[in-house]
Amino acid sequence: MLHVTLRQLRTFEAVARLRSFSRAAEEQHVTQPTVSKQIRLLQDAVGLPLLEQIGKRIYLTQAGEALYATCGGWLDTWGRFEQTIADLRGVKQGRLRIATVTTTKYFMPRLLGPFCAQYPGIDIALEVVNRDRVLERLARNQDDLYVMGVPPDDLDIIREPFLENTLMVLAAASHPLAQRRSITLGEVAKQPFILRERGSGTRLTVERMFRERGLSLNVRMELGSNEAIKQAVAGGLGLGILSLSTLHPDPSLDEVAMLDVEDFPIRRHWYLVWPRDKQLSVVAAAFLDFLRGHVDLLMHREPPRV
Ligand code: PGA
Repeated sequence: MLHVTLRQLRTFEAVARLRSFSRAAEEQHVTQPTVSKQIRLLQDAVGLPLLEQIGKRIYLTQAGEALYATCGGWLDTWGRFEQTIADLRGVKQGRLRIATVTTTKYFMPRLLGPFCAQYPGIDIALEVVNRDRVLERLARNQDDLYVMGVPPDDLDIIREPFLENTLMVLAAASHPLAQRRSITLGEVAKQPFILRERGSGTRLTVERMFRERGLSLNVRMELGSNEAIKQAVAGGLGLGILSLSTLHPDPSLDEVAMLDVEDFPIRRHWYLVWPRDKQLSVVAAAFLDFLRGHVDLLMHREPPRV
């Protein structure tokens, strides 16, 4: 029987995930020598090296990989137990881990403010990445909840729509199409586009829609940032398709115009997603309840008439 402590496992999991002693120390609010000591004690107990440092990089040994694959589940279960005990004592505390797609950065952080004010004992780890990365994290069960616009079809998940997510076609305010009405999809497809990177939910939705109409897009440039796309569109490099959530309530301040294009805006939703068989922690359940009761905090915006 191996004598290891929960503290050692927590430290190891953080080092293995972050591939860094210093970042693990920061996350665990301890010093780097404390992290090194916990790892040394754990390696002594296991009797095999778990980590290997080559230059500045940290690699997991075979034993380290095996431990990393198992300890995530244990720590998750133990974390839920600790939260349940705190809840029975009348306080909600613990860590809420949310992975959310790039575009939600325009509203998720704003929603977390009032949530944290209501539950000061809950601290949040918010991972903002594109849809592909969110799906990887979901498949590895790395977080409590996930937020995205295009939930996957091939995973057994619960998806709960909580907000409208509308896609608009944008052009520079001075673009000739900005003055036109009822522009056809065929006309738009001939224009150069600045699109999000492959793996983004916005890109996936747009390409699917054009493909279904037998059209393909003329992609002049790919950019991983909605802000950069807005700047490129405002600068006249091409048309863009972005979520209404990314725009200023008065789009003229972004120096872009929303075009009146057939089949646009594309009306969809933002979804909260989690694996169907996942037992939600107390803090995750508190966040779900909060979100259900507070969606009005997130400006519900009707797409303006164009
Ligand atoms: P994205 O997702 O930020 O990965 O493009 C947004 C969406 O699905 O609307």
